[in-house]
Amino acid sequence: MFFDRIEAAPADPILGISEAFKKDPRADKINLSVGVYKNEQGVTQILDCVKKAEKILLSEETTKSYLPIGGMPEYGRCARELIFGKGSEYVDGGKAVSVHCPGGTGALRIGSDFLHQQNVATTVWISDPTWANHYQIAQAAGLKFERYPYYDRVNHCLAFDRMMDTLSQAKEGDVVLLHGCCHNPTGIDPTAEQWEQIATFLKEHKLLPFIDFAYQGIGHGLEEDAAGLRTISKHCPEMLIASSFSKNFGLYNERAGVLTVVCKDAETASRVFSQLKISVRTAISNPPAHGEKIVTTILSTPQLREEWEQELAGMRDRILEMRKLLVEKLSAAGAGDYGFIAEQNGMFSFSGLDKDQVARLKEEFGIYIVGSGRICVAGINHGNIDRLVEALNAIKK
Ligand code: LMR
Repeated sequence: MFFDRIEAAPADPILGISEAFKKDPRADKINLSVGVYKNEQGVTQILDCVKKAEKILLSEETTKSYLPIGGMPEYGRCARELIFGKGSEYVDGGKAVSVHCPGGTGALRIGSDFLHQQNVATTVWISDPTWANHYQIAQAAGLKFERYPYYDRVNHCLAFDRMMDTLSQAKEGDVVLLHGCCHNPTGIDPTAEQWEQIATFLKEHKLLPFIDFAYQGIGHGLEEDAAGLRTISKHCPEMLIASSFSKNFGLYNERAGVLTVVCKDAETASRVFSQLKISVRTAISNPPAHGEKIVTTILSTPQLREEWEQELAGMRDRILEMRKLLVEKLSAAGAGDYGFIAEQNGMFSFSGLDKDQVARLKEEFGIYIVGSGRICVAGINHGNIDRLVEALNAIKK
């Protein structure tokens, strides 16, 4: 038998929790594990601008024939304009090229495949901690990975000196994977000054930046969240960016992502693009259309774009409100000093809870968070926050 030796894999450390959550019969259970935005009613709604774009597509679409291998050029252009800002030399002009990939994960994978297949690099440096899938993606693409320290668990801040110290062991030509904003899982991002230091360091050490950019607009704003990445692009002539529209457009299951590669000139970029198309063709042949058409329609229709920015701001503001309220309520309950949660950015709060406490939250209270202690703040609302505070108070050490 061919498959007898196959061992059962452990559940996915993030998506696997939602599977367990579904099976939990408790009516008052709360799922704060996966990074999905939920509104005050606990629902992951479809944005109004998305519904409107879909109506346009329904009436105007005339074919379901294949898209080009890299996706529609206008989709890539819209993505680059979001990443680099209007008027940037990387939007038009050919120095940066983009291919549609299925979600941010697809962009990370296609980018890693390209690096491996083209012998660009062998080793990628990944933050510790990071999104659990990063390690698997690097390995599956045939890259080795090393870890650099990122989080100071005692002071709940970026372990900047240790991070840079460790990165000084990277060899010329290695890849450094950075989170563009809203670092997953810690919610701690470098300051503007630290981004400058990272950028000059990468340039001096001839390291290739690969930016995971899954949360643009979720932290502080579309421009603000892109600032670190834009600093890198000012110093480093070459980089890769994996963008995702899952969170900021709420298009989770449409798998709308983009891989953008910045090159030193348009001639190089055109050769790179030709190879990226091979990587896409080998992995998925050509991309799915619906998500990218929604994004392109919204971004290129001024009224829809405005509506999207408002809806995005609404999600961002609600997350910030819940973050502050959680800190206030925990402090009022005497649950301990969780003030650091207010300093973190994006959908997640790195709570500092250990494995036992995470298990108690689940077993005693039906509250599901990620094993690392990551809480999805985007799933908290006025209706469940008091139970969460009560539970966190009960398990304090
Ligand atoms: C998360 O970190 O929860 C999200 O990025 C969803 C995922 O695919 O893990």
